[in-house]
Amino acid sequence: MNVLITGGLGYIGSHISVVLLDAGYNVFLFDNLVNSSRDVVEKISSITNKKLLFLEGDVRDSMSLIKFMRAHNIDAVIHLAGLKAVGESVSNPLEYFDNNVCGLVSLVSAMQKCNIKKLIFSSSATVYGDPAYLPLDEEHPKSATNPYGRTKLHCEEILADIAKSDSTWRITSLRYFNPIGAHSSGLIGENPSDTPNNIMPYIVQVAKRALPELIIFGNNYATADGTGVRDYIHVEDLSEGHFVALNQLSKRDQAYDVFNLGAGRGFSVLELISAFEHVSGCKVHFKIGDIRPGDVGTCFASIHKAKVKLKWQARELFMICVGLHGILKLAKNK
Ligand code: WQD
Repeated sequence: MNVLITGGLGYIGSHISVVLLDAGYNVFLFDNLVNSSRDVVEKISSITNKKLLFLEGDVRDSMSLIKFMRAHNIDAVIHLAGLKAVGESVSNPLEYFDNNVCGLVSLVSAMQKCNIKKLIFSSSATVYGDPAYLPLDEEHPKSATNPYGRTKLHCEEILADIAKSDSTWRITSLRYFNPIGAHSSGLIGENPSDTPNNIMPYIVQVAKRALPELIIFGNNYATADGTGVRDYIHVEDLSEGHFVALNQLSKRDQAYDVFNLGAGRGFSVLELISAFEHVSGCKVHFKIGDIRPGDVGTCFASIHKAKVKLKWQARELFMICVGLHGILKLAKNK
């Protein structure tokens, strides 16, 4: 199978590329390098000992997508390209709607012109807004608390309408919880080009003494230790989830479906810090700061639907700790 991955050189895309190449699929990456670097192609190749093709481009450029898809006989697309910083989306909503929503419309139009009807879309748990109940299942009410989450919500609705209009499509939206970790080789991982937004790359920078300390955003949530609780899923588990969802597309009757990709339990910021210190032997200096606007206290996934319909579930937390080794190797390789 020839699979095009948009945003394929990014944190999630590079790990999915490894899984697909190891399974014998042909991988074609399309990335505008806004939050990734070209040298990841070589790293994916050295991990898998396989060749893959990369074209620099922006998903809003429908014409180059069509040319690339036709040239390589693409069978399916995994769409990861997009902007994903919640805070940045509040200060620059137009950039987010243009990249994430117009980008999706451009991609799907290009697919339609090439008669490619298999699509996996990278969505997010932010579409659940403030949890009305926990764990969050796929039927939970949708809402957006920021422009980033709103772009994901709009993209899901667009895809559901496309599938309703033409039942020959096979589209799945995957709602990510909190991906962390790195490939055990330490060659690929989460390497944001500027100060990290997300907690794990921030912790790694503090452990490396590249940043002085972590500010914990609030410790008076209604959680066991007062700090925010999230569903951290190892990026290799998340990548396996994409692989299973991709293969399930041609084995089902539904034109559109949605799945949570989470580990199914929540851990607090303080628990994450102590797991990291335990595995790495590095001290993580922190202090308690104010709650970050838009944050929710607790968020974790119901994994029942993916378990039953995809026959997939993430491994245990321990694997995440082991996965931290990958993060550290990566940090040392820089
Ligand atoms: C995790 C926890 C923070 C940084 C976001 C997006 C989501 C997904 C993952 C794309 C929270 C706390 C964080 C820090 C802290 N991205 N924290 N100090 O906000 O759960 O989710 O990234 O799909 O869509 O919304 O992830 O890593 O920013 O925060 O205390 O410096 O760590 O309050 O409890 P989040 P995060």
